[in-house]
This record gives sequence, structure tokens and C-alpha cells, in this order.
Amino acid sequence: MERTLAIIKPDAVERNLIGKISERIESKEFKIAAMKKVALSKNQAENFYHVHRERPFFNDLTTYMISGPVVLMVLEKENAIVGWRELMGATNPADATEGTIRKDFAINLEKNSAHGSDSPETAAFEISFFFSQTEIFS
Ligand code: CMP
Repeated sequence: MERTLAIIKPDAVERNLIGKISERIESKEFKIAAMKKVALSKNQAENFYHVHRERPFFNDLTTYMISGPVVLMVLEKENAIVGWRELMGATNPADATEGTIRKDFAINLEKNSAHGSDSPETAAFEISFFFSQTEIFS
């Protein structure tokens, strides 16, 4: 079993897509091992996305991530990291495959509806950034 962090981003929460996205997750047999709706602080968003701090889009990204509440989830399944990335589709919805979350729901590269960890190391960092072990249920 592998765990990954999923975020339903502000654009999707605002458009009442929490249910539709969670339904896709559960129908692909992920276990939602933890889930909470939170408003991130700018400091939290900057620390969470610290690997992108030198990128030109860093300020826009972190400002967008605090523009409304997000839903944080720990997803559990075999090969959860790759599986969640496949279900989300390409980062830019213009490049995403039919039937993926980003193809069907995302607005653009910034408002791309969902986030997922990209490696086991990132998943460990991202899960522990938002959840303590006692908040996660296998
Ligand atoms: P995410 O998977 O959350 O990781 C970083 C985010 O930065 C990414 O999704 C995009 O929403 C956002 N982003 C904005 N501009 C870019 C860009 N030029 N390249 C990659 N990611 C970008």
C-alpha cells in the first residue's frame, strides 16, 4: 500500500466539485484515509510549494492557493502516487486526456482543480505537512 497527498484546489471547491472528485477517487478504489477542508495561510502555501520558490509563477500560485478553502486528502492504494496522477491528468488541462479530472473540471494551468504528490519522498513530506499519524486511518 502506498499513500499520496491529494488537494482539491480553490477553483474546484468553489464550484461545488468536492463530491464529484471524491466519487472518482473512491470509484478507482482509493481509500480516503484522511480528509479535511482548510483555508491555507500564505506562509503555509509558500512552505508547501517551497520546491517552486524560484519559479516565476510562485507568487501567483501561492496567492491562488489561499484565494479560498481547499480539501486535503491522504489517498491510499497500491501505486497511489502514479494512480492519482493518472486520474488527475496532465498539469495543464489543455494537455490532459479525456476523462481525467483536469480535462473535465480544470479551468487553466493555475486553476487546475487538483494537486498530487509526484514521488514517494514528496508524498512523505506533503502528508506530514498537513496530517499527524493519528489523523490517518488505513
Ligand atoms: P501542482 O501539481 O499543484 O504543482 C505546482 C502548480 O503550479 C501546478 O500544479 C500548477 O497549477 C501551477 N503552475 C502555474 N504555472 C505553472 C507552470 N508554468 N508550470 C508548472 N506549473 C505551474
